[in-house]
Amino acid sequence: MNQTPRKILVTSALPYANGPIHLGHLVEYVQTDIWVRFQRLRGHECHYVCADDAHGTPIMLRAWAEGVAPEVLIEQMAREHRADFAGFLIGFDQYHSTHSPENRELAERIYERLRDAGHIVRRTVTDLYDPEKKLFLPDRFIKGECPRCGAPDQYGDSCEACGATYGPTELRNPVSVLSGARPQPRENLHFFFRLPEFEAMLREWTRSGHVQPEVANKLEEWFGAGLREWDISRDAPYFGFEIPDSPGKYFYVWLDAPIGYMASFRKLCARTGLDFDEWWGRGSSTELYHFIGKDIVYFHTLFWPAMLHGSGFRTPTAVWAHGFLTVNGRKMSKSRGTFIRARTYLEHLDPEYLRYYLAAKLGPGIDDLDLNLEDFIQRVNADLVGKVVNIASRCAGFIHRHSGGRLAPTLADPGLYAEFSGAAGKIAGCYEGRDYGRAMREIMRLADRANQYIDAHKPWLIAKDPARHAEVGAVCTQGLNLFRALITYLKPVLPATVERAEAFLAIAPLRWADLAHPLLDHAIAPFTPLLRRVEPQAVAAIVEAAGPETNETPGGPSSDGPAAAQIDYERFAEIDLRVARIVRAETVDGADKLLRLTLDLGGETRTVLAGIKSAYRPEELVDRLTVMVANLAPRKMRFGVSEGMVLAAGPGGRDLWLLAPDTGAQPGMKIK
Ligand code: MSP
Ligand code: ZN
Repeated sequence: MNQTPRKILVTSALPYANGPIHLGHLVEYVQTDIWVRFQRLRGHECHYVCADDAHGTPIMLRAWAEGVAPEVLIEQMAREHRADFAGFLIGFDQYHSTHSPENRELAERIYERLRDAGHIVRRTVTDLYDPEKKLFLPDRFIKGECPRCGAPDQYGDSCEACGATYGPTELRNPVSVLSGARPQPRENLHFFFRLPEFEAMLREWTRSGHVQPEVANKLEEWFGAGLREWDISRDAPYFGFEIPDSPGKYFYVWLDAPIGYMASFRKLCARTGLDFDEWWGRGSSTELYHFIGKDIVYFHTLFWPAMLHGSGFRTPTAVWAHGFLTVNGRKMSKSRGTFIRARTYLEHLDPEYLRYYLAAKLGPGIDDLDLNLEDFIQRVNADLVGKVVNIASRCAGFIHRHSGGRLAPTLADPGLYAEFSGAAGKIAGCYEGRDYGRAMREIMRLADRANQYIDAHKPWLIAKDPARHAEVGAVCTQGLNLFRALITYLKPVLPATVERAEAFLAIAPLRWADLAHPLLDHAIAPFTPLLRRVEPQAVAAIVEAAGPETNETPGGPSSDGPAAAQIDYERFAEIDLRVARIVRAETVDGADKLLRLTLDLGGETRTVLAGIKSAYRPEELVDRLTVMVANLAPRKMRFGVSEGMVLAAGPGGRDLWLLAPDTGAQPGMKIK
């Protein structure tokens, strides 16, 4: 282990600022954080940077819908993201934003260098324009019939029915998703990055061990199909950076997103005095790794290395992709209560349970991984509590009772200790190669050995004989040294538990190299619980909190099932729908999902309890208009009387829609 320290820079993909962090995201941040902590534990210099990916159409539209400036929205999201990551012990050295001066400067510089080297071309293409919203529509904001199979309701880039890919102008009977208007074809100038010019460089780069074998195969397919020029410009209105020489044209969000890695590192340099060019300059001898999900491989293994190369920067040492998280064997779903936000999890469970469970499931490849909630409870309780923490609690009492809190001066079984410390190479290899599942199995195999050792020597029996107290001390000293080896190995995964264990052992923060020497003739501190068992009720609570607001058939299809029995128009007309202005919105003590809304119905005031807390912060709602059922009989609920019902449409969770403030509607107005 006498390697010279490496200089390593690590990134995770930048989460979009238009949504909350969920357990799927955490696969990536946990995977990366474990790797970074492992490198540091081994004594290497390792920096870990990330940022919010703040630009693009969806963020702009969400800001419009909420009636706030995009800058305000991304500020708020960044605060939430940071808090969620901190909650899961993700130890970024720098968490920045793509909407930052560093990123603007670097994006402009990279663009200008690419342009000056002839890697950018301008061409006129036909775009679809929304005449009502007055903007060019991105592919995903146009729907129509598939030009190949005729399936209705398909997006502008590909058909989910037959798999065809096409351009939005090829769709039949297209409509704008934003306004429902028929989009108009319009000539428009676009900027393209000439990716095909980099084919030789990229073929060489992908062949020389910078990507996983599965990814290299995929790349071969893409090369075979031919690389295409990449459209990097978008038109105003767009939330992003304006292209320097072209007013009204903006960088496409995916151009400046990966540059955000550099920008975040630049910010770190400014804070700590690191030398940016040493790490990003062409020919740099430092290592650079990007951890990403398999859905964004194209951007990271083709566009990104080509952009870096074309603008005179270094290329990544490796890009490592992981698979997607499923929950209970299926895609995360709001209606099944498995679309679990990081925040919801943290309100009920210890982050290290999930860190361990994901580690146990992660391999070096791009296979998807499943969070089975039953198995999660079992595995965490059996392994961490039952096997690892248990060793310390079994041994600590005896050391305090019979050895004055002091470890024995020699090991009872040096051979067994050597077996533990001798596993360091193998376990390090697993961590280095991102085969955490294998590392966890190896560590748990050793934990079983340690428990067998204690079972075989039965300190609780020999302690009954005062003449044998030295022997008890020797057995427990051995046990605690085995425990110390285990927690050294687990430290990248369980930083907080291991910190508590270090306090209990009264030692300095463990390093990998400490394994070489056992801990002997040393006073330990009183034992305090290191990690509690997972409570099944807490797991049930997160599913409950993540679940739909309404009662859907559990385990049923993700749609809401067939429509209810028909009603005639008379019956419908009895429902008095009115526009209402939200004058006040408050949280309700003790209620997870409810907001108390005070509504102005054009003179009359009503109080309504609405289950929309997960979708809105109360302060965002004030002064907005909604539609309410004005003649619903008052209902007494657990948290008070509700005098009507607001109609928030949407699938539930965060995606609920009220009316925008500028529709011209007036409070009290009847809806026809
Ligand atoms: N903003 C882009 C990345 C830009 S990087 C220059 C993006 N953001 S994201 O929020 O959609 O995803 C962030 C990361 O989380 C991606 O690497 C993505 O693959 C990963 N995951 C998102 N959902 C996931 C699962 N359900 N499972 C595993 N990883 C997932 O993409
Ligand atoms: Zn089709």
